[in-house]
Amino acid sequence: SDALHAPHYPWHFNKPLGTFDHAALRRGFEVYKQVCASCHGLSRVAFRNLVGVTHTAAEAKMLAEEIEFQDGPDENGDMFMRPGKLSDYFPEPYANENAARAANNGAYPPDLSLMTKARHNGSDYLFALLMGYCEPPGGVEIRDGLHYNPYFPGGAIGMARQLFDDMIEYDDGTPATSSQMAKDVTEFLSWAAEPEMTERKLMGLRAMVLMTFAAAATWYIKRHRWTVIK
Ligand code: HEM
Repeated sequence: SDALHAPHYPWHFNKPLGTFDHAALRRGFEVYKQVCASCHGLSRVAFRNLVGVTHTAAEAKMLAEEIEFQDGPDENGDMFMRPGKLSDYFPEPYANENAARAANNGAYPPDLSLMTKARHNGSDYLFALLMGYCEPPGGVEIRDGLHYNPYFPGGAIGMARQLFDDMIEYDDGTPATSSQMAKDVTEFLSWAAEPEMTERKLMGLRAMVLMTFAAAATWYIKRHRWTVIK
């Protein structure tokens, strides 16, 4: 396509045995919650998924309880509202796609659960996109309601720049520069797209160790068995 290719950033979690940084995941959740969640859903993540990753069980329970969910029907057949529980999934920002488009000049803010997998080099793309807003080059006209971003295919995106220095405050004291927030939310959304990444890599490592021993044993037994024939 005509979009600028995102640079490769040295994401530690994308290295062969790299794992997620839990402090960064916690900050990234804060960015998602305070900045992105008003327009983008994260429908595949439940509050219980945060436990032991970004928050303690008590904290995650409190986060869930801040939100009212519709439930029911009760014994009279009525729907009712109740505070969230750990088993609830993150709430949707809009009732449906029409409502989402109506609120965004016709553009649809996609669910971010699998965004870093859905796009080529998703982590690089996400960071580059969030930080990539700039003045359009001379001669390029951007339609009203759209914003120039060279990393978005077509160059004109329905999402305005979202991240500005110090728009939120991190509870660990990390300065919330726009690039810090972009980096943290990228790590958080990369985790959301593959929460089992660490287990996958650990399993791979175990398989490699096991195969190495199996190969060594095979080699030794073969030598041992065939000595008499040599
Ligand atoms: C599109 C991320 C905040 C409105 C997107 C896309 C991503 C993204 C990855 C998809 C780009 C693609 O299709 O390749 C984020 C992140 C946010 C954030 C990480 C928080 C830091 C917001 C907010 C709004 C918004 C607060 C609404 C005020 C939209 C819209 C689109 C979009 C309307 C669709 C654009 C189009 O298709 O032209 N966003 N977003 N986003 N976002 Fe956001």
